[in-house]
Amino acid sequence: MEKNELYSLIIKRRTVRKFSRRKITLPVLKKIINAARCAPSAANLQFLEYILITNNKTTQRIFPYTKWAAYIYPQGTPGIKERPLYYVGIAINCTRSSKSDLRDLGAAAENIMLSALGFKIASCWLGAINKKEISKILSLPKHVKLDSLIALGYPKETPKTIETDKKTKYYQDKKGIHYVPKRPLEKILYFNKYGKKD
Ligand SMILES: Cc1cc2nc3c(=O)[nH]c(=O)nc-3n(C[C@H](O)[C@H](O)[C@H](O)COP(=O)(O)O)c2cc1C
Repeated sequence: MEKNELYSLIIKRRTVRKFSRRKITLPVLKKIINAARCAPSAANLQFLEYILITNNKTTQRIFPYTKWAAYIYPQGTPGIKERPLYYVGIAINCTRSSKSDLRDLGAAAENIMLSALGFKIASCWLGAINKKEISKILSLPKHVKLDSLIALGYPKETPKTIETDKKTKYYQDKKGIHYVPKRPLEKILYFNKYGKKD
């Protein structure tokens, strides 16, 4: 098969919840947001806006309003020295769209995570956040609704993929290695009609 770097990155990407203290440069962070900007958008409405959080004080204020790895709480929560130094807030500017199609947000978030990985930067999408409190910290006006945060940083762990159709809950072993079950391709792929396997 032909070598395809993007495909390899997509397959390799795993959510990371332990980050190093290494800094990410501003030009790289801006490129990551630029990748989100170029994501597909239903009717090309482009209602998404991004708040890049680089300030140490602000990242510290945000952390208590995030939830990490709920299935294995508190095991998956980053320790004080493993917390991300950066977050991207993804928000909807309601003046740009009356009914925001959240598929736009999914595409933008994935562009953020994959372009970050291209720079060897890991990520964790955080949807279980206290939007009200974080919106206050970020001074978001009423018409700008926070949806998610993406935590960014150089990784301090290497989660592993397990191919199985038997479970979906991620878990950690005694050494703290994080395993993510993924359904095998042959269980989810059909040809020409549902149920047809070849
Ligand atoms: C919409 C969405 C919201 C998520 N919210 C959280 C979250 O609040 N906290 C967390 O630790 N992980 C969160 N995740 C990460 C998932 O737990 C993770 O993607 C899943 O376990 C599969 O692992 P993988 O990303 O390594 O494939 C979220 C993922 C998505 C797509």
